[in-house]
Amino acid sequence: MQFTPALESNMRHGNSLITLCLMVVLAILLAACESREQTDAVSYSPVGPVPAAPQRPGDPRKGYEALLNAPYITCGIPDSAYKQTASPPRASSLIPGRSGRNAELPYALTAYTTPQGVELVVNNCLSCHAGFFDGKLVIGLGNENLDFTEDYAAAAESAGAYVEDEAEAAEWRRWADRIRAMAPHMITDTVGANPAINTTLVLMAHRDPKTLAWSQEPLIELPSKTVAPVSVPPWWRMAKKNALFYNTEGRGDLARAMMVGAILCADDVNTVKRIDAYAPDIHAYLASIKPPPWPFRLDPKLAEQGRAVFERTCSGCHGTYGEHPSYPNLVLGLNEIGTDPVLAQNAAGGASDRFIRWFNRSYYGELARAAPAPGYIAPPLDGIWITAPYLHNGSVPTVEALLDSSKRSKYWTRSYESSAADYDPVGLGWRYTGLAQGKAGASDSKARKKIYDTTLPGHSNAGHVFGDSLNAEERKAVLEYLKTL
Ligand code: HEC
Ligand code: HEC
Repeated sequence: MQFTPALESNMRHGNSLITLCLMVVLAILLAACESREQTDAVSYSPVGPVPAAPQRPGDPRKGYEALLNAPYITCGIPDSAYKQTASPPRASSLIPGRSGRNAELPYALTAYTTPQGVELVVNNCLSCHAGFFDGKLVIGLGNENLDFTEDYAAAAESAGAYVEDEAEAAEWRRWADRIRAMAPHMITDTVGANPAINTTLVLMAHRDPKTLAWSQEPLIELPSKTVAPVSVPPWWRMAKKNALFYNTEGRGDLARAMMVGAILCADDVNTVKRIDAYAPDIHAYLASIKPPPWPFRLDPKLAEQGRAVFERTCSGCHGTYGEHPSYPNLVLGLNEIGTDPVLAQNAAGGASDRFIRWFNRSYYGELARAAPAPGYIAPPLDGIWITAPYLHNGSVPTVEALLDSSKRSKYWTRSYESSAADYDPVGLGWRYTGLAQGKAGASDSKARKKIYDTTLPGHSNAGHVFGDSLNAEERKAVLEYLKTL
């Protein structure tokens, strides 16, 4: 410990009692500063392997039940307003395991009765984390067809016309206020791109990290309004991943970290604690999900040849599959991977430190930690055939184009139908069309928002050139092998 000259001279002059007092005060101050620095220090994770952290055990069966029925989102529109405006759900949207009013609601909505007795209909996790393939709902598949290209504030406001009494009006207002705060920060350029990261940051900015109380005025600076596009990863990766998110920002207790989405409406820590009690069950359920098997014809001999190429060329980053699977949980630095850097730089480049501090100071930070890496994890490739478009920003429409960078289109548009006929079983992905020009060439606004423009910030389709060195035969074999994962 270094003493100031004043203290040293005090000691020399034998004024020991005063010195002692000063030292005690100084020690207390230093200790206080240190502990404050510990909670407030921002640290990024290194690139390289992500170590495993202890996880709370959970019951996957209970997790499924909670995911589909529990009120982890506690604000939405009054059920009476919903009934007046919604059309009856399609049969394919009604799923087993739901009880009461939930049994009549489409999978992405959950009924919730507030302590004041107002019946609400709220969006649940499946809004983004379930998708269709050939008319069948696949739970855990990222929904790559959501349209966030519009400003949703006006739609949320207009729902207010249908509320029936004061209690309902108050609940609708609570929800509409959050949507209004998020709306300008969640407008994406292309249909399918997901703005969930930005919306979470807006909610953090409007909440006190310690109490979670909502403030109409943001308490820290809001995130940028420019959304870096994100493709929603499939949940079944949670069986292997030691951290959450493409940049592995979510560390520690993953059940605690993943429920940060509940801060849309949770206005106090007790509400979040109630959710946290069953979060490990939900995490266990996510980790238990098996990807859907390849539904088309397969050439097992070619796939076997592909395995050899894969294990030589890809396994070092993506792991091995089959009887004795392994997965290295490896984060690649931005220069090494060469894919669009914006998402990772936004999180680990200093510009988002206030959000990292927010998280680590909050109830979430007591068991989990926000520590983004300046890079991207090489994801497990289980069920990769069904998760197009590819890369963290969804900039590459098929696995074929991912494995041959000469085939990647600068501008492209794709089918959003999700039927078997819209799927390309040779290239692995939704059928798409490369375009000679970007949005300027679109016939109307509907076509315009379906054009993916890789020249926009955050939208680059560069990098991951590891398939370029393969010859056409090897590439074909690897594609066949990937169908079996
Ligand atoms: C508005 C859309 C949206 C909603 C609603 C949503 N998520 Fe997500 N989720 C995302 C996106 C986008 C990502 C990818 C973010 C990233 O990796 O940077 C993600 C990532 C995840 C991951 C990490 C996956 C991985 O491979 O690292 C988990 C786990 C997860 N979400 C769980 C949940 C749970 C549980 C809920 C409900 C409480 C939920 N999500 C609600 C969009 C959403
Ligand atoms: C040096 C490490 C490394 C090697 C080698 C590698 N990859 Fe990757 N791969 C990555 C990383 C990192 C990502 C994520 C990049 C991103 O999202 O920006 C990725 C992404 C992918 C994706 C897209 C995943 C998704 O859901 O978007 C596929 C498919 C893939 N790799 C297949 C392969 C195949 C097949 C090979 C072998 C020919 C291979 N990779 C070789 C590191 C690697």
